[in-house]
Amino acid sequence: NKRVTTADFRRMKQEGKSIAMLTAYDYSMATLVDASGIDAILVGDSLGNVVLGYDSTVPVNMDDMIHHLRAVTRGVKRAMVVGDMPFLSYHISREESVRNAGRLMQEGLAHAVKLEGGCEVADTVKAITDAGIPVMGHLGLTPQSVHQLGGFKVQGKDSEAAKRLLEDAKRLEQAGVFAIVLECIPQQLAKVITESISVPTIGIGAGVDCDGQVLVINDLLGMFSNFTPKFVKQYAKLKEQIVEACTSYVEEVKTKAFPGPEHVFNMNEDQLKKLY
Ligand code: KIV
Ligand code: NA
Repeated sequence: NKRVTTADFRRMKQEGKSIAMLTAYDYSMATLVDASGIDAILVGDSLGNVVLGYDSTVPVNMDDMIHHLRAVTRGVKRAMVVGDMPFLSYHISREESVRNAGRLMQEGLAHAVKLEGGCEVADTVKAITDAGIPVMGHLGLTPQSVHQLGGFKVQGKDSEAAKRLLEDAKRLEQAGVFAIVLECIPQQLAKVITESISVPTIGIGAGVDCDGQVLVINDLLGMFSNFTPKFVKQYAKLKEQIVEACTSYVEEVKTKAFPGPEHVFNMNEDQLKKLY
């Protein structure tokens, strides 16, 4: 199977074929997600929430991202692997931004990077794409700015804010992004943005008219329950199954029902006698 590329993204939008993206953070899960026929796997900085246990993505740093990117890219044969640029890794200077994007590619072996923001990061996006690194944009609810946005809430609901988001999308397209994630915005606005730019939009809480969808794998599998936003659909309830399985294990260890004869190794009688 051939690797999915940015050219495939563009073609899929042109042909009206929807793009499917999911997150993954480790080797085992990445191999399973890749086997599903997913188009792209995002090593998101949602890593901070679902894997590292922080209450936002702000504490996630470059070394965290590279560590998990390497694990994921070792498991993925077909999907495009996108690495999130973490908080402040693309804000200090253009030089530092290009170097950090480059680290996700060289050390993390990502095929593309994603960063949050609109007009204010357009020059940075251009500098990174000029270095030959594909960039995915991210507009709407941008979790790295949660403290500025004043919480996790729907963005672009009034016409002023909506107009700004549309401008941001067009500016990102000009700057060279190959796709844009639209997070938690009204479906009507997502549709307008999707029709206004030539690069695909990947929605999360942005309705069915986007060119594709993305979800956090732990949310989809129902194994992260601290907080479940309205836009999440649980395709499984693994949390219950995992707790149930572990409870059975504890029970069987306590009662000596595990390990059974099929789980053990034996030595022959002669060798055993010589032991005494
Ligand atoms: O970090 C992440 O998982 C993301 C997606 C929700 C788009 O940025
Ligand atoms: Na992210």
